[in-house]
Amino acid sequence: MAAAPSDGSAHEPHSRELYVGLMSGTSLDGVDAVLADFAPPMPALRAHSHRPFAPALRAELLALCSTGANEIDRGAATALHLVQVYADCVAELLETAQIPAAAVRAIGAHGQTVRHRPDAGYTVQLNAPARLAELAGIDVVADFRSRDVAAGGQGAPLVPAFHAAVFAAAHPRAVVNIGGIANISMLRPAGGPPLGFDCGPGNVLLDLHVARHLPEAFDRDGAFAARGSVDAALLARLLDEPYFALPPPKSTGRELFTADWLDAALRGCTAAPEDLQRTLTEFSAQGIADSVLRWCADVHDVVVCGGGARNRTLMDALSELLAPRVVLASDALGIAHDHVEALAFAWLARRCVRREAGSLPSVTGARGARVLGAIYPR
Ligand SMILES: Nc1ncnc2c1ncn2[C@@H]1O[C@H](COP(=O)(O)OP(=O)(O)OP(=O)(O)O)[C@@H](O)[C@H]1O
Ligand SMILES: [Mg+2]
Repeated sequence: MAAAPSDGSAHEPHSRELYVGLMSGTSLDGVDAVLADFAPPMPALRAHSHRPFAPALRAELLALCSTGANEIDRGAATALHLVQVYADCVAELLETAQIPAAAVRAIGAHGQTVRHRPDAGYTVQLNAPARLAELAGIDVVADFRSRDVAAGGQGAPLVPAFHAAVFAAAHPRAVVNIGGIANISMLRPAGGPPLGFDCGPGNVLLDLHVARHLPEAFDRDGAFAARGSVDAALLARLLDEPYFALPPPKSTGRELFTADWLDAALRGCTAAPEDLQRTLTEFSAQGIADSVLRWCADVHDVVVCGGGARNRTLMDALSELLAPRVVLASDALGIAHDHVEALAFAWLARRCVRREAGSLPSVTGARGARVLGAIYPR
């Protein structure tokens, strides 16, 4: 057992660097929250929480992802509802870890992306960081993406720097986060900074199709898809989307992969619902596998995080497409698949507080690395 600190306290508060990360991604499934200690060498998870969005909040967030009436008032009101969920997560983390708010250096609160248009010069994450600072009594770092966009970058993905910090190996490795959208980071032990980009849809179309056919929000464990077979003609049509042929840097979101986009691809298709689900699952896997094979075919393994790691049919399809490379969930490397993205935003908050750059211009295409985020003091 470790010797007691010389001041007689149970802990050594000054050696701790506690940060909270709050992530609510494009799937709109809810909030992933972590409390982590970033005192070197590795982030140590102290508590985690997941709060699903209430149906009304999810519906309003989804509605705000496309053009509609009175968006400013609706956006502001919805942001207040969102940060109430954020604040509830923070309270739960502190309660679980038995830590006072004052012990936490900052919260990294991503907000909810409702527009991502880097080519037009903006990206919008709905958030109310001032309100969250007031509710939590902790400094809040928010608006991580805008500075990279202002510097000419895509503002996404922002997680490759964190992936490199925690998953780098002695061999070339890819890390794939399968959220609503799937994004990839390519880590090389020697030779250049990490690369990364958004591959295309992860779960967003899978969830959409499930919601039309089952009383469920998602295809649990990929069981629905597992009952069907791939419609090769439909798969080829889906893969015709020009986004896949674009070279990086590139990022995408719900703006492109909408219900209308899916319906246009499905027009005239008579396949059974489970065959469609299987085909959409194969489509997500193929978009990811093509990204690996085209841009980092020399990787030895592919580490998967995000909710997609739970979809067995998707993971099996990836393993098959990428063999002999090993496809493994990040859990095997010590970080649970559903904690990685929230940890990344806790890590980015720490970078901001320390005035350290958080972006990788090699990933986003920005003119240079920038300190990301704005600080709202408690
Ligand atoms: N048991 C499961 N089986 C299959 N799919 C699952 C399961 N659990 C979660 N998922 C999928 O994972 C999704 C949520 O993943 P996640 O939270 O990583 O995505 P996200 O919110 O879009 O995050 P981000 O944008 O940060 O990547 C769900 O919408 C669902 O499609
Ligand atoms: Mg999520």
